[in-house]
Amino acid sequence: MKNKKNILIIFGTRPEAIKMAPLVHAFKVEESFNTKVLVTAQHREMLDQVLQLFEITPDYDLNLMKPGQTLSDVHCNVLKGVESIILESKPDYMFVHGDTATSTAAAQAGFYHQIPVAHIEAGLRTGNMYSPFPEEINRKLTAQMATYHFAPTELAKDNLLKENNTQSIVVTGNTVIDALQWVMEKIKREKIQYPELKGINLDEKIVLITGHRRENFGEGFLNICHAIKVLAEKNGDSTFIYPVHLNPNVRKPVNEILTGIENIKLIEPLTYEPFIALMSSSYLVLTDSGGIQEEAPGLGKPVLVMRDTTERPEAVKAGTVRLVGTDKNAIITHVQELMDSREKYDLMAQAKNPYGDGKASSRIVSFFKSLQRVDV
Ligand code: UD1
Ligand code: UDP
Repeated sequence: MKNKKNILIIFGTRPEAIKMAPLVHAFKVEESFNTKVLVTAQHREMLDQVLQLFEITPDYDLNLMKPGQTLSDVHCNVLKGVESIILESKPDYMFVHGDTATSTAAAQAGFYHQIPVAHIEAGLRTGNMYSPFPEEINRKLTAQMATYHFAPTELAKDNLLKENNTQSIVVTGNTVIDALQWVMEKIKREKIQYPELKGINLDEKIVLITGHRRENFGEGFLNICHAIKVLAEKNGDSTFIYPVHLNPNVRKPVNEILTGIENIKLIEPLTYEPFIALMSSSYLVLTDSGGIQEEAPGLGKPVLVMRDTTERPEAVKAGTVRLVGTDKNAIITHVQELMDSREKYDLMAQAKNPYGDGKASSRIVSFFKSLQRVDV
């Protein structure tokens, strides 16, 4: 086909892979685009889990993860690695996602070669440069280098406008909802007994826990773990399930403080499908994750966020997400309140979804198809 455009979709971590997978599939079926996938493998095992589920075989794999890598390690290796693929694959457009080291360094490589960069999940802000760290600044830097901004919500669009990113902002919803809807349909259709969830009784009162934020390393994580320990002791009839992130800064305190407690199950990071199955059977979610703040409201699960700030205030406003910080007593008080008060629990446990309708990827593809029509 005349005018066929080369698309290069780039990601490297678990959450980026989940949120880019629907976009990869939406582009791949379009004959007017030659779509290639480049993974940096900033994550390895946690990325491969997602690639397998969504049946994506990358065209390029930088395979750059090292145990205990620093932010500079990742940034430098992504910059050089993506540059080499740009020279080989000659993309017309590059796609990056969100706020990771992969997205910012890849956007920079695109900018250096004057290739238009499309930024998916653009415009989320806390206004605090150290929280989330380094993601707040990563996301702002990527916005500066991007040509096309795909904002999940109107609020995200307003944030971009305030920073004078006035060119090509499209509000699409978040592609995480596309992924979530796809996986929920699969779960309902296939009714699989997941081997990863063997030994977990999904009918029990489950508190699902995740945590990995850099700004919580050290004292924050110690507080979080001590709070979980107290909560597990107080709520002997409930199970606290914690799929532990592979970052050694997370694993060390979690394993030291929480191993050997009967109703705390420390498990390996779960593939997306059993993770969502587990979340949809949980009573509540205690997390510092970004993506989970977007998914849980859609499933009607209250989320207590162990952070002082959030770049996703929409669900806080909708009443399904509450910021509880990382103070030990504050975490205990907020969780216990929802364990004890059905009334307070019901107020939060309402399925609301401020993050989209599952059609974000098709809106992004339509935008690029309309650019092609103008080009003809
Ligand atoms: C990264 C992102 C963060 C995102 C998070 C999602 C940056 C700066 N941080 O943080 O925005 O929220 O991913 O989880 O981009 N590891 C493994 N195997 C894996 C993944 C990680 O062993 O599959 C271990 C390695 O020791 C690695 C370390 O975790 O060096 C840290 O990984 P890294 O991607 O640098 O940071 P995250 O904390 O995962
Ligand atoms: N997730 C997963 N398995 C797990 C924990 C989380 O598949 O064991 C998914 C979760 O549903 C969400 C994403 O991973 O889509 C969030 O990743 P993470 O919390 O690592 O990163 P963040 O969203 O904070 O950048």
